[in-house]
Amino acid sequence: MKNYENVTIFNHPLIQHKIAILRDEKTDMKKFRELVEEITTLMVFEAFKEVPTKTVQVQTPLELTNQKMVADDAVTIVPILRAGLGMVNGVHTLFPTARVGHIGLYRDEETLEPHEYYCKLPDCIESSIAILLDPMLATGGSAVAAIDFLKKRGCKEIRLMNIIGAPEGIEVVAKAHPDVKIYISTLDRGLNENGYIVPGLGDAGDRLFGTK
Ligand code: PRP
Ligand code: URA
Repeated sequence: MKNYENVTIFNHPLIQHKIAILRDEKTDMKKFRELVEEITTLMVFEAFKEVPTKTVQVQTPLELTNQKMVADDAVTIVPILRAGLGMVNGVHTLFPTARVGHIGLYRDEETLEPHEYYCKLPDCIESSIAILLDPMLATGGSAVAAIDFLKKRGCKEIRLMNIIGAPEGIEVVAKAHPDVKIYISTLDRGLNENGYIVPGLGDAGDRLFGTK
């Protein structure tokens, strides 16, 4: 895969450790959900070294001081339904007051084309950084459709966060939306004949929510 300026692959050992457990088919739903949240928090911590801040005055027990805090509505969390929902709490751990917009997309199992079925975004989407969440970046179709939608709604800065990505999906998103920063915990080998990431972790939505 070509090196894209806006693509960051973490490969952090502490994240990799959690991904090993996440991939394991024996990992149950509760543990899977917890790991998705924890990995998301670690990714966001790394990805948001720069974020709009405001200065506030705080009275410590000793004196009055100026202190930076994250600006109001600096970010908006946008999970792609369903599986992106599993990452929301992981972002809220670091941005507890962030608003949440939802984009509902499912992938047709035959054509692998994304279909939109729901969208509700807060007004601040035009002025804040959208953190677009989906654990899996496979063909890239869902991510491109979600980014198209956010841009049509006036969103100017988007950061896509995926736990596992396939090279095919990264190429598709990076070419369609070179301005979007893409953060991926781990890069997998590719896609199988059914469009699943290999080695991957299976169907993220099913493993998060106990469906099949
Ligand atoms: C999965 C996953 C992504 C999409 C990735 O969702 O959560 O949204 O597939 O595939 P792509 O990169 O090829 O578009 P799915 O459509 O299975 O829906 P779900 O989250 O409701 O299970
Ligand atoms: N969606 C998933 O949940 N897993 C994959 O491997 C590909 C798409």
